[in-house]
Amino acid sequence: MSMYPIIMSQGKFTHKDSLQFPYEERGLQFGDGVYEVIRIYNGKLYLLNEHVDRLFRSLDAIRIEIKQSKDEITTLLSELISRNNMEQDGFIYLQVSRGTAPRIHTFPEAIEPNIYAYLVNQSRNLEGLENGVSTITLPDERWQNCYIKSLNLLPNVLAKQTAMEQGCYEAILHIDGRVTECGSSNIFLVKDGKIYTHPATNRILKGCVRIAVERFAKELQIPFIEEAFTVDDIHDADEMFLTSSMSEVLPIIEIDNKRIADGKPGEISRKLQKAYEIDTQLILEKVK
Ligand SMILES: Cc1ncc(COP(=O)(O)O)c(C=O)c1O
Repeated sequence: MSMYPIIMSQGKFTHKDSLQFPYEERGLQFGDGVYEVIRIYNGKLYLLNEHVDRLFRSLDAIRIEIKQSKDEITTLLSELISRNNMEQDGFIYLQVSRGTAPRIHTFPEAIEPNIYAYLVNQSRNLEGLENGVSTITLPDERWQNCYIKSLNLLPNVLAKQTAMEQGCYEAILHIDGRVTECGSSNIFLVKDGKIYTHPATNRILKGCVRIAVERFAKELQIPFIEEAFTVDDIHDADEMFLTSSMSEVLPIIEIDNKRIADGKPGEISRKLQKAYEIDTQLILEKVK
């Protein structure tokens, strides 16, 4: 992974080394802000509108007003790519915090939000996509407003660290046995030809790739059922997979050291991976 030199800060473009570090930054001190991670293929943004819509939903939810419109944000992100001459695979990290002010918990008056974005190179996880990954299950210890893509990621960080220490890719989170999502991805169970996933309530982040998968399922006439499943149901599943901008449609072949079905990526996961690839190609052609 390597970062590109030009970053966007407060709607302007500057070299990353020229930025000063503000100590009394509310994102840093309180996690008082939101973010987006948007996938880039060959220098083109994938599911951009979905990400920008979610950014504004998150901002509304925590009462941060930025001066840029959705269209202006879209233009700034595209300009960031062109100014860096990026033509490879990677992602944009975009963060908005309430701003910089002396440290008090309540919203400071007349504060200007801090907004910045940068680009990172990252290639696709081809090995994981082909062979699938292992995961563990853990209790979901997060707050009740997980639909907001908030900077407060401590429970997610700890869950993913535990998974990594056990040689696993992700942690599947559950509340009293009912599966919500993963540390940084949405999760799906396939049984008898149907896809099950937690409804998009405040308990999960509605992923942009999840939105795309719902669209693919419709096109492929695979029932997409928004119904929570349990940790017990997992061991009876025909297939399991997770989705995110970084992971795409990633088959899960093992959970808590137990194989899912025959321990190989399933047929529906493969069909969705194919649909994902076609969709990214279409987007690349549209913006050419
Ligand atoms: C908790 C959580 N759920 C789901 C997702 C997947 O979202 P998306 O598909 O928009 O990347 C993410 C992505 O970072 C996440 O952090």
